[in-house]
Amino acid sequence: MNTFHTIAELRAALKIERLQDKSIIFVPTMGNLHDGHMSLIRRAVTEGDVVVSSIFVNPMQFSANEDLERYPKTLEEDKRLLEANGCHYLFAPDALEMYPDGKRSQTQIEVVGLSDILCGASRPGHFVGVSTVVTKLFNIVQPDCAIFGNKDFQQLKVIEDMVRDLSSNVRIIGIDTARNDDGLAMSSRNGYLTEEERRIAPAMYQTLLWAKEALLTNSASHEDIREQAQQKLEAVGFRRDYFEIRAQDNLQTPSEEEKSLVILAAAYLGNARLIDNIRIELA
Ligand code: PAJ
Repeated sequence: MNTFHTIAELRAALKIERLQDKSIIFVPTMGNLHDGHMSLIRRAVTEGDVVVSSIFVNPMQFSANEDLERYPKTLEEDKRLLEANGCHYLFAPDALEMYPDGKRSQTQIEVVGLSDILCGASRPGHFVGVSTVVTKLFNIVQPDCAIFGNKDFQQLKVIEDMVRDLSSNVRIIGIDTARNDDGLAMSSRNGYLTEEERRIAPAMYQTLLWAKEALLTNSASHEDIREQAQQKLEAVGFRRDYFEIRAQDNLQTPSEEEKSLVILAAAYLGNARLIDNIRIELA
């Protein structure tokens, strides 16, 4: 695997691949890679010829009170994992390579509406930072296809809408959430948990499964399910952010007839903000 830190070097290498008619599959990340990220890389290997990943902890998607400074950095171990799973090129720029002031660009991409709900309501500006950096990375890599995780379901929706609205030629694939044996969704932020919190954390997935069952058996109203779920999470030590039942396609409050739903949860546990979701198809 070749690692490049500058846009010019990566562009030069990918130009040669493109001249040989190779397809390019891209997996953007912020590093501290785990098996969830690797499931994206392994899928990328099956989707085309050249696999490119990026590691960039994007300052523009963090607000002032968030974990930008302490976000875990494990570049050497990340490189080893990427190489072992079949990645060909790693792009690992520093902040000045991506932004003139190292923090943000003057031009911003916003998927209006979708960016302000759920995680966007709790993290103002977050999705503008994500859409803008992903646009820049797409312009740098010019992939045929890019792969994202369903773990960040709202992020996947934002990227899908952005690509459609901007007539971008990148095919987007979403990959199922990789979980630990106890159900906890793999996440770089799980590293912030103490031993005790790590034992509590799987309750988020358990509560999503409970809510899914309640929806499938039609045993309570959406409002009741949401409130009971929040109480279950608080009872074990989470602090609430949101627990919502939404339509899968646009993440809006679903109509009575809506069959494709997604249950999305976000809550704080100690120093970590954890998110997870499950999709559900009603008969
Ligand atoms: P990061 O959190 O590093 O995630 C990179 C990709 O891995 C995302 O598409 C995310 O959904 C996926 N992913 C993370 N955990 C996963 C899991 N347990 N199972 C499956 N996929 C998982 O998301 C970002 O970085 C950034 O916002 C980025 C898109 C790179 C823009 O900066």
